[in-house]
Amino acid sequence: MFRVFAPGVVKLFGEHAVVYGRPAIAAAVNKGIEVLCEKSDKTIVRTGKAYVDLEYIHDVGTALARGHERFLSYAISALKIAESSFGVLKASFEIKSDFPPSIGAATSASVSVGLLKAYAACLGIEIAPEELAKLAHKVELEVQGAASPMDTAVSAIGGVLRIETNPFRYRRVNSSINDFILALLPRRGLTKDIVADVKALKARRRSVDAIMDAIGRVVDEAESCLESGDLVCVGELMEINNWLLGALGVVGYDVITMLRYLKPYIYGGKISGAGRGGVVVLLPRRKEELKEVLLATDVPFVEVKVEAAGARAI
Ligand code: PMV
Repeated sequence: MFRVFAPGVVKLFGEHAVVYGRPAIAAAVNKGIEVLCEKSDKTIVRTGKAYVDLEYIHDVGTALARGHERFLSYAISALKIAESSFGVLKASFEIKSDFPPSIGAATSASVSVGLLKAYAACLGIEIAPEELAKLAHKVELEVQGAASPMDTAVSAIGGVLRIETNPFRYRRVNSSINDFILALLPRRGLTKDIVADVKALKARRRSVDAIMDAIGRVVDEAESCLESGDLVCVGELMEINNWLLGALGVVGYDVITMLRYLKPYIYGGKISGAGRGGVVVLLPRRKEELKEVLLATDVPFVEVKVEAAGARAI
């Protein structure tokens, strides 16, 4: 039996603009996906929370499946790409997630990274983090049509990374700010549809380019504040980034209202991911009180810490 942990990913700065060539900063966290793999006479993928049951038929490269359709498409695509990269493996996989699916904590990226890593581990193959990131990005592209390499790279490589695309490159941000709280709001819409709406807005209104440029500048400034551990600066830039995302139409009143009433307890906060609800990342100022307020107002939340390592056997 092999066990693999693939970290979830929190987008700290720059989502959406990263799709248009601006930089972004994202962090791997200590909550994510665990994949168990055991050789068997057929290939099965099971997961408790997402109610998925999948049997992969190697001879025809297809699957018999029940359950969460979107989740299944990532699992099937990861199995196909693993098979063509590493060879045939018949095994039973079990996926456990710390997050509900489709909330914007990169569960799809972590599932792709975790399944590929577990598949290779079960075959006794050691795969380098950069190679893993590349294969997992292929899964995301196959399923979503368009996706930046940010989430898969961060889950595969770990730490806080500054990501640039076209061509893809990254560097580690030596952040001394490593504790966040993620509030989990109901999500309205899928990443791919929200990304498509932003694309359509950008095509209609040339002023949107200036918003993308401004987000890129926030990322540059945030990098040095993360490195110097300047909580006030990071919090303020999170707020600015959130308003800029609001101008792109992806931040709803639920998020704005929540950030306003949490203000005394946080340095700042913003959506993390495509938006329209989903994950809101909070930089705590008075952490215990913040948790009490979230509990009292029935907002589900997860406490996370930055995870320096990427996907790995555990
Ligand atoms: O909602 P998520 O966690 O899948 O994040 C999407 C991030 C975007 O920048 C909006 C899209 C992308 O591919 O980078």
